[in-house]
Amino acid sequence: MPDFPWDLLAPAKTRAGQHPDGIVDLSMGTPVDPVPASIRAALAAASDAPGYPLTAGTPALRAALTSWVARACGADPDLVGVLPTIGSKELVAWLPTLLGVGPGDVVVIPRICYPTYEVGARLAGAEVVRADSLTAVGPDPRVRLVWVNSPSNPTGQVLPPAHLRKTVDWARERGAVVASDECYLSLGWEEAPTSVLHPDVSDGDYSNLIAVHSLSKRSNLAGYRAGFVAGDRAIVSALLTVRKHAGMIMPAPVQAAMVAALDDSEHVVEQRTRYANRREVLRDALVKAGFEIGHSAAGLYLWATRDEDCWTTVDWFAQRGILVAPGEFYGPAGNRHVRVALTATDERVAAAADRLAR
Ligand SMILES: Cc1ncc(COP(=O)(O)O)c(C=O)c1O
Repeated sequence: MPDFPWDLLAPAKTRAGQHPDGIVDLSMGTPVDPVPASIRAALAAASDAPGYPLTAGTPALRAALTSWVARACGADPDLVGVLPTIGSKELVAWLPTLLGVGPGDVVVIPRICYPTYEVGARLAGAEVVRADSLTAVGPDPRVRLVWVNSPSNPTGQVLPPAHLRKTVDWARERGAVVASDECYLSLGWEEAPTSVLHPDVSDGDYSNLIAVHSLSKRSNLAGYRAGFVAGDRAIVSALLTVRKHAGMIMPAPVQAAMVAALDDSEHVVEQRTRYANRREVLRDALVKAGFEIGHSAAGLYLWATRDEDCWTTVDWFAQRGILVAPGEFYGPAGNRHVRVALTATDERVAAAADRLAR
């Protein structure tokens, strides 16, 4: 395994923590706003759960997942398979293994991306190729799995339907699986992200496709561990079989909470508005402080650069009591950017803007 990246940030965190008005931690995308009351009530109401839960999810959860992917992704509810996961990180880390990908196989991941795609390939013993365009990969028959992530963590880039469609066609021709991580689908700002399940990408055919979703950011449920996959029924059923054997079961109270979260969109709009406001404040402050913002059309981060080594930029922020993530965490090509998360309270975001203005 690579070094756990966040350990490398400890010295900058100590430095930022010495600011007289306290640290503003914008390094992690961890939600800070309350869990909506209706979701907490559903969790509490389901807390008497002595028996083993269903790995496939309760009928109520399966219905809520299916109807959500129909509404939010444009998926056909009669054709799409769904399966709850214990947050999406475990699924990302274990997907290659669960699919039987292993030594001699290749997993393609974006050049700059969420580090767990690489971790998952390594856990399975597969080779990792970083590429944004599959023409760069060439006709390699060893490719078994292709990850896409739109909106992207960390860059906020949104992949247009035509790009996703090309990726899907390429993978299908080779019998590879496309895993589309759509954790940030509800956070489009300047561009509206499209799911890989949408007819514009899939033509309503989900063969070789799975979309990976999470309620961590949409509903402030990172602490509950609530995610799911949706797509090709044969793949979903293969995943279910292994996950049943391996005990990868979402706890029953979380399943009930997830139904409440998926059935309500009011809290999603409210949370989106909070992030939109924080984004405006931080974006404006960063630009005034001389930063250039790349992509960042959607998602939970601003991808900022002063065209210098990312660790120099991390130190610059730390001197002002602000902690950001070095772009290098997300791949060598990110080494001149930093990632600034929108997940801090309004008060901390205002403090960061104030410090950047000095
Ligand atoms: C792109 C991406 N995928 C997956 C995850 C995992 O989220 P969770 O395990 O909370 O569902 C994250 C978390 O930040 C992420 O940024």
